[in-house]
Amino acid sequence: MGEYRLRPVREGDAEAVLEAFLSAPDMARQGDVTDLASAQGYVAWLQGPTRHSFAVCTGDRVVGLVAVGVDEANRNGWVFYWMHAAHRGLGVTGRAVATVADWALQPAPTGAGMERLELGHRVNNPASGRVALAAGFVQEGRERGKFLINGERVDVLTYGRLVSDPWPETTVLSIGS
Ligand SMILES: CC(C)(COP(=O)(O)OP(=O)(O)OC[C@H]1O[C@@H](n2cnc3c(N)ncnc32)[C@H](O)[C@@H]1OP(=O)(O)O)[C@@H](O)C(=O)NCCC(=O)NCCS
Repeated sequence: MGEYRLRPVREGDAEAVLEAFLSAPDMARQGDVTDLASAQGYVAWLQGPTRHSFAVCTGDRVVGLVAVGVDEANRNGWVFYWMHAAHRGLGVTGRAVATVADWALQPAPTGAGMERLELGHRVNNPASGRVALAAGFVQEGRERGKFLINGERVDVLTYGRLVSDPWPETTVLSIGS
């Protein structure tokens, strides 16, 4: 496996983000990114004030994303992630999500001082469930028929990780600037 590391998402990442979105059809549900302009808009959204967005990089090039949407009033975070198709199945996303979740649950200023993290994935996306477990999340529920996809209603499995939960043993990645 090459060397993967995390750093904050930057304005100049749009081209690599576009390449990742074009790498697999399942990326279409992650955002409206189809050309450079929409990729630039997506990157700007990721950099918004209520989000912590980390690029998963080889060298300095973005191949994946782990982000946390902040619910400040409740000290909660909503975690979401994706990986370029060419870099999947290596355990990198699991390690990246574990790294960001550990960081988010650490007290400030080391981390983001959150107390609960949440995520959800479609029941027909088991790889995402493996990522959630690698990052220390516990399945909490099932939202029945949550999304209408190609004429079929699809359940979503919901997960949470509390600051008081056991820390996962997954090897973390480094976070740089
Ligand atoms: C979901 C996604 C992030 C996984 O990325 P990845 O880099 O392959 O993840 P990892 O390599 O860290 O782990 C994948 C795990 O899923 C497992 N897996 C892959 N395909 C699977 C399948 N069809 N059934 C069961 N498990 C599967 C792998 O064996 C691995 O498990 P392990 O680490 O226990 O061996 C990636 O497929 C993706 O970006 N999908 C599109 C966006 C998306 O769905 N994001 C999540 C939204 S909730």
